[in-house]
Amino acid sequence: MNLTLKIWRQKGANDKGKMVDYQISDVSPDMSFLEMLDVLNTQLIEKGDEPVAFDHDCREGICGSCSLYINGEAHGPDRLVTTCQLHMRKFKDGDTIYIEPWRAKAFPVIKDLIVDRSSFDRIQHAGGFISVNTSGNTQDANSIPIEKANADAAFDAATCIGCGACVASCKNSSAMLFVSAKVSQFALLPQGQVEATDRVMNMVNQMDAEGFGNCTNTGACEVECPKGISLENIARMNREYLKASFKG
Ligand code: SF4
Ligand code: FES
Repeated sequence: MNLTLKIWRQKGANDKGKMVDYQISDVSPDMSFLEMLDVLNTQLIEKGDEPVAFDHDCREGICGSCSLYINGEAHGPDRLVTTCQLHMRKFKDGDTIYIEPWRAKAFPVIKDLIVDRSSFDRIQHAGGFISVNTSGNTQDANSIPIEKANADAAFDAATCIGCGACVASCKNSSAMLFVSAKVSQFALLPQGQVEATDRVMNMVNQMDAEGFGNCTNTGACEVECPKGISLENIARMNREYLKASFKG
């Protein structure tokens, strides 16, 4: 395939940035999207040009670092996959592909397609830890009965990889889907009950302090989330927050 790429180039956080056109040829439909960018970067380096900076690590849909906005969609046109799992067979010969970084005040651009998502780390940090009694009375986790539906929902919430696609696809740049997944994975389990009040209050307060917008139930986050995190988690977090407000 021969493609035209329109890529956001920005030298640093204070640079204005602009879209730059690149032509790329002989792209195999079996390449992943990131492999296609690797080929482009090899060509740029061979010409003595600066390669395009983009984030990636596992390339297996686990780490959440490959945050690219492709043709106006977080992680591109496929569903339930990250950019590293997106394949070029989703595009056709002659296509023009727009590639941009996440756009959100709380995710400032560091360079080209790389944004600073440390605000997510600070939210998780604010959530703290769970207490486990290790005084000799520790109960084996396998012997704590947990309703199957709750165990499944907690597990589903825990599959959030913190990629930030939910924020990038939300018109309000809201982080509610991410934060609610992180709240839910503990709120549904007995081990998460001890610090439940502080956890939800602290995480929501930190989310607001980081400058994320509010949720207006648009649902774009759920559509673009590569892990299929459900909006039900936001409803659960709102209930947890309300309960905590009464207690607090
Ligand atoms: S909720 Fe989905 S889109 Fe948001 S950070 Fe988690 S995995 Fe990414
Ligand atoms: S590179 Fe890790 S999820 Fe894509």
